[in-house]
Amino acid sequence: MRNRSAALAATATAACLCLALSACGQNSEGGSKEDKGSAKGGTIGVAMPTKSSERWIADGNNVVKNLESKGYKAKLVFGEDDPDTQVSQIENLITQGVKGLIVAAIDNKSLNNVLQQAADAKIPVISYDRLILGTKNVDYYASFDNEKVGQLQAGYIAERLGLKDGKGPFNIELFAGSNDDNNTKYFFDGALSVLKPYIDSKKLVVRSGQTKLNQVTTLRWDGATAQRRMDDILTSAYKSARVDAVLSPYDGISIGVLSALKSDGYGSGSKPLPVITGQDAELASVKSIIAGQQTQTVYKDTRKLAEVASTMVDDVLNGKKPEVNDTKSYDNGAKVVPSYLLQPVSVDKSNYEDVLVKGGYYTDAQLGK
Ligand code: GAL
Repeated sequence: MRNRSAALAATATAACLCLALSACGQNSEGGSKEDKGSAKGGTIGVAMPTKSSERWIADGNNVVKNLESKGYKAKLVFGEDDPDTQVSQIENLITQGVKGLIVAAIDNKSLNNVLQQAADAKIPVISYDRLILGTKNVDYYASFDNEKVGQLQAGYIAERLGLKDGKGPFNIELFAGSNDDNNTKYFFDGALSVLKPYIDSKKLVVRSGQTKLNQVTTLRWDGATAQRRMDDILTSAYKSARVDAVLSPYDGISIGVLSALKSDGYGSGSKPLPVITGQDAELASVKSIIAGQQTQTVYKDTRKLAEVASTMVDDVLNGKKPEVNDTKSYDNGAKVVPSYLLQPVSVDKSNYEDVLVKGGYYTDAQLGK
């Protein structure tokens, strides 16, 4: 049904376009270029995964702002972290006749059918931050160097613990993101490339024994799920020992882990909080860093990501080749998706003012200073 209505909508759009072109006295020669140019003023569909994390709200708003500044309208939807909801939202956007799609997937493998509908309607698709897998109907990918994110988190732990200077052994626990998010593996592999030698030499000890990716993932990046797992680990593996570091891939998970630690008496008396990493520089976590609880986060300037993705869709619609800086790393199983990767930055108490406040991401007032 939906397939058919999308096809009908596409035919109707094409018919209107012909009328519009002949009305302006333009012939159909080089029609494809003119067709594409006519997307200006059209609507771009923007599908974000959830409102439960402030970063995605900021991403969504920034993408809309960028598209509007380029002369488009935008329709922004949030999928409530539910893959089926996201699929039907995208179907609706296609039916409404959007000219392009920017999608941050919830489940990277759930979008194949709906993106075929987009392809049938000649709608270009930009995969936003998270790579969509298993379909050739993804035109470009805008993200960060995801492996570097993990390396920054693990490198921070190594430095803070003094592992390079031969200190140790220390106890560490590992957390990873959602198993249906393609980024999860990149973050974890990046982190393990730094941590594994120390785990092998027993300078780092994972007392829970949970070191494989499938043992440490956190469905939908949920902080409460991470909190429960940390509770269980503290009860089962740390009766007579202290955890010195926690590899956390994302601020929402770090906050959950911190709650479990605090309930267990960490952060007071003889149990200092461990080194805890994070990602996204979310406001609550930056405040936690300033308060000396979470230790580090990885900042990814979502304003820049929004700009890259919006420029990509604008370029494609105008028959221009978008700028990419990686044509090798992101094979989605159906093709290597040309990518533009931005650089993440490690942030802690020593540089948040320089990076986040001077960089205009937050004001001192927002940080409660
Ligand atoms: C990832 C993203 C991270 C973080 C996480 C949870 O895909 O790259 O920056 O936001 O999702 O939302």
